[in-house]
Amino acid sequence: MRRLTKNEWTFLAVVAVYSFIPAILGLFRIPELVGGPTIMPPNPRAVIDPVPIILHILASSIFCLAGAVQFLPSVRRDRPAVHRGLGRVVVAAGAISALAGLWMTVFYVFPPALQGPLLYWARVFLSLAMFAFLFRAVIALRARNVAAHRAAMLRSYAIGQGASTQTALFIVAMAFSGVEPLDLFRELIMVAAWVLNLLTAEFVIRRTVATPRFSVAVSRRSQSQD
Ligand code: HEM
Repeated sequence: MRRLTKNEWTFLAVVAVYSFIPAILGLFRIPELVGGPTIMPPNPRAVIDPVPIILHILASSIFCLAGAVQFLPSVRRDRPAVHRGLGRVVVAAGAISALAGLWMTVFYVFPPALQGPLLYWARVFLSLAMFAFLFRAVIALRARNVAAHRAAMLRSYAIGQGASTQTALFIVAMAFSGVEPLDLFRELIMVAAWVLNLLTAEFVIRRTVATPRFSVAVSRRSQSQD
């Protein structure tokens, strides 16, 4: 296999840094939930009902980090078996992340400062949308519709990466206000992060997947594989 290009390494590094807090630091919640030491600030909901949050954290981290590899053109081109194998893992992880997120949204008992109606409905809607896009991506692949597969994966990845954009916006808000955002302000930041990510995904889809050049390249590649 040819090596990854400089741009691809840069992309992976940017995703790793961008997802660092939710996808890597988030894993430090797990030890206390399996009987180990407490490292993170307390989350009573996690202690009361640990299984969904453990599944959610593990699956979300895999989805965000392994998912980034799936966007590398050289892996898709030179190692289709790796793309296929990793793709199964990423889709399963994304589905578990979305469904466990939905479960916690509905069944965890949140103080109103941490989840009001706006965030509740945004989480319900977006976790279902993330799941639906993953489902659509698999169906599109079976129909050999690569453009639809790629667009659906990009959309589900954008929703999943909402946690990273939320963290980035929280850091900016705290830098300006000096306090942790709560209540409606917190919810608006979280929803804005998802909107920003989805707009970015639409921009990327229109710039790449929807161009005639992409369709020609994909149809040439699939003809050469037939
Ligand atoms: C549609 C997507 C998602 C939804 C609806 C969702 C929803 C939730 C909910 C309801 C909780 C419980 C929060 C609490 O008890 O305060 C949670 C926790 C968490 N989520 Fe997500 N989530 C999503 C995606 C992600 C992704 C992609 C990541 C990682 C990159 C992530 C990382 C985490 C972490 C680390 C926690 C644990 C927070 C703690 O330790 O207290 N989530 N999520």
